[in-house]
Amino acid sequence: IILILDFGSQYSELIARRIRETQVYSEVLSYRTTAEQLRELDPKGIILSGGPSSVYDNYAPHCDPEIWNLGIPILGVCYGMQLMVNQLGGEVLKADRGEYGKSSLYIDDPTDLLTNVEDGTTMWMSHGDSVTKMPPGFELLAHTENTPCAAIADHTKKLYGVQFHPEVVHSLGGLALIRNFVYHICECEPTWTTAAFVEEAIREIRAKVGEKRVLLALSGGVDSSTLAFLMYKAIGEQLTCVFIDQGFMRKLEPERLLKLFKEQFHIPVEYVNARDRFLNALEGVTDPEEKRRRIGHEFIREFEETSRRLGHFDYLAQGTLYPDVIESADTNVDPQTGERVAVKIKSHHNVGGLPKDLRFKLVEPLRKLFKDEVRKVGRSIGLPEEIVQRHPFPGPGLAIRILGEVTAERLNILRDADLIVRQEINQRGLYHDYWQTFAVLLPIKSVGVMGDQRTYAYPIVLRIVTSEDGMTADWARVPYDVLEAISNRIVNEVKGVNRVVYDITSKPPGTIEWE
Ligand code: XMP
Repeated sequence: IILILDFGSQYSELIARRIRETQVYSEVLSYRTTAEQLRELDPKGIILSGGPSSVYDNYAPHCDPEIWNLGIPILGVCYGMQLMVNQLGGEVLKADRGEYGKSSLYIDDPTDLLTNVEDGTTMWMSHGDSVTKMPPGFELLAHTENTPCAAIADHTKKLYGVQFHPEVVHSLGGLALIRNFVYHICECEPTWTTAAFVEEAIREIRAKVGEKRVLLALSGGVDSSTLAFLMYKAIGEQLTCVFIDQGFMRKLEPERLLKLFKEQFHIPVEYVNARDRFLNALEGVTDPEEKRRRIGHEFIREFEETSRRLGHFDYLAQGTLYPDVIESADTNVDPQTGERVAVKIKSHHNVGGLPKDLRFKLVEPLRKLFKDEVRKVGRSIGLPEEIVQRHPFPGPGLAIRILGEVTAERLNILRDADLIVRQEINQRGLYHDYWQTFAVLLPIKSVGVMGDQRTYAYPIVLRIVTSEDGMTADWARVPYDVLEAISNRIVNEVKGVNRVVYDITSKPPGTIEWE
């Protein structure tokens, strides 16, 4: 295992993913983890992440200075390097010019860390402070035009620092560097594979659950489907999958999901039709946060009632993923004022978001995995591509894609329009070009004309975006003829709609969903 100490970098998770791509297991811990705790965890290597602070900030996060004496190889990245230099007696200064973006890296010592990294390769920089004097015992490995000490090493103590970010895709030589650190310096073996994970997870589930019964809430997404597969493989009929149909799924999706699980996978699923219940709960509600709150609340109540009806369960299987587990809360601190920063944009309600006080114990076999690893596992145990590669779909579903009050009539209109969007995109083989493609219904009406008749009906908004991770997004430059086909079909085929508009807002400042 390689452990990453997180100093508040937006890239800490990415470092962990890159390490895992070399088939070595990696976890992110708080920078406050002590040398003693690290010694007990016995990692083969430690990486200190970047971070938004300057080592001279009043509240700059520092690591336990004893970690330099653990005898474990350490790689400091950006802020991590500056901290290493600062604590070991070198010098870090505010540079005349920071360096941001792509830089060419010139190699002074092509041995261990930089073996096979090409001289002049592109590395991605983002720093204001710079190392001006190396600590005693360190040697220069590489420089760039503006950064004299871009990579440094104390070869005997196996301490390394790089000012650039080897983990980002723009750093062309980054992967080679990471591999050198992981395989040659830390001497790790590539044992973190999908097959090994599945075998281990099944063993752990069986050991934990024993003869007990487990309940699982299926949503049809890749996480809960993979979870269901894995659990069923591990404990068979001791598992009960429940699918609560809130009535907010896309057209034909509940039917398909049930068919797939029952007929193709032979995993029994308990179907609960709760459509009326959710619709009633939303009557007269127009505020987006209130909608989300009510849907979340109803879901928990329905889930509790269903579980009681189905008998006694000791465990609840949850599709918690690694990013939910990483303790990032205590690094979300403003380095100047020491204040905690947390901004809530939207409350997310997921099947995974059941409250802790439900009377079940939890089994969370996916809690070590990143999303791309879940997909690999899903694929390896036979989940079809249509689920593995599915676009994200919000827990509250179409209810947050109807602005204003959600009614049965509006749901029907949106479902029909949404189906046309998906059909036109799929037919042209464009599904994988986009992060999400969907329709939104606005609760207003505008005037149109069809066959000499005046119409007065709802507009549909098309939202088609590209994104890497949903955190930022751009509106997709969809070919005009595709937009035209979608618009024509919706206006002609969906009764109650007389206008289609295309949302050309990126995120930020817009969000992907409209509520
Ligand atoms: P926003 O609208 O915040 O969405 O830009 C970012 C991503 O999150 C999805 N989303 C949700 N996913 N439960 C979910 O599981 C939710 O309540 C929820 N709300 C938004 C959204 O579809 C996009 O992919």
